[in-house]
Amino acid sequence: MRPDPDAHTRELAAKATTDPTGWFEELYAEAADGRATVPWDRGVPAALLAEWARDLDGTGKRAMVVGCGLGRDSEFIASLGFDTVAFDVSATAIATTKARHPDSRVDYVTADLLDLPGDWRHAFDLVVEDMTVQSLPDPPRAQAIANIPPLVGPGGTLLVVAAANLTGAATDGPPWPLVRAEIDAFATDGLRAANVECVPDATDPAINRWRAEFRRPS
Ligand SMILES: C[S@@+](CC[C@H](N)C(=O)[O-])C[C@H]1O[C@@H](n2cnc3c(N)ncnc32)[C@H](O)[C@@H]1O
Repeated sequence: MRPDPDAHTRELAAKATTDPTGWFEELYAEAADGRATVPWDRGVPAALLAEWARDLDGTGKRAMVVGCGLGRDSEFIASLGFDTVAFDVSATAIATTKARHPDSRVDYVTADLLDLPGDWRHAFDLVVEDMTVQSLPDPPRAQAIANIPPLVGPGGTLLVVAAANLTGAATDGPPWPLVRAEIDAFATDGLRAANVECVPDATDPAINRWRAEFRRPS
């Protein structure tokens, strides 16, 4: 009998505490062969991002999508006119995304949030972080948070979408929903919090999500 791909995904995710970023490559590689499933492969952008960004005109602006996975948010951001770069630590995720979107305008790059290229510093008008940090234990989670704000350029915006831990109780991730102090930690490197909301998930009101916007003064 063929093994259950969802069960195999749970086995791979169990490695997250010992191999915080490495297990993602295994997951995407096995998913490409049908042996695992990618739970966040939804084909549509995150609802909280789509609602927030729907009237943006990205013409003449640069955007960066952090931990882009299979490209659902980056394709949406590029459709708004942004000159978009998107990266993920998994080379297979990037290859799969490029194969799915052969005519994409997005520049897809394999890169590690914990070791970013220097020329991305202060280079983007819009930076989107959707569910990357929540997928990491600590360490390296605090370092991952600290490495995102320096991507935002002068006058630029960072949007963070993440599951919320409102009680502070220990959770058995991944994912590890973010507590408020972790959201507040994005206000570093000169960024200021512009709006922080916590909203119930549209499909499961038992889950709360942060949508937090930070800006760098011009
Ligand atoms: C829960 S998934 C979310 C993917 C995507 N943001 C989405 O919403 O569809 C987390 C993603 O973060 C990526 N990731 C984890 N650690 C990373 C790191 N250190 N650098 C870059 N990407 C990373 C994983 O490979 C995975 O694609």
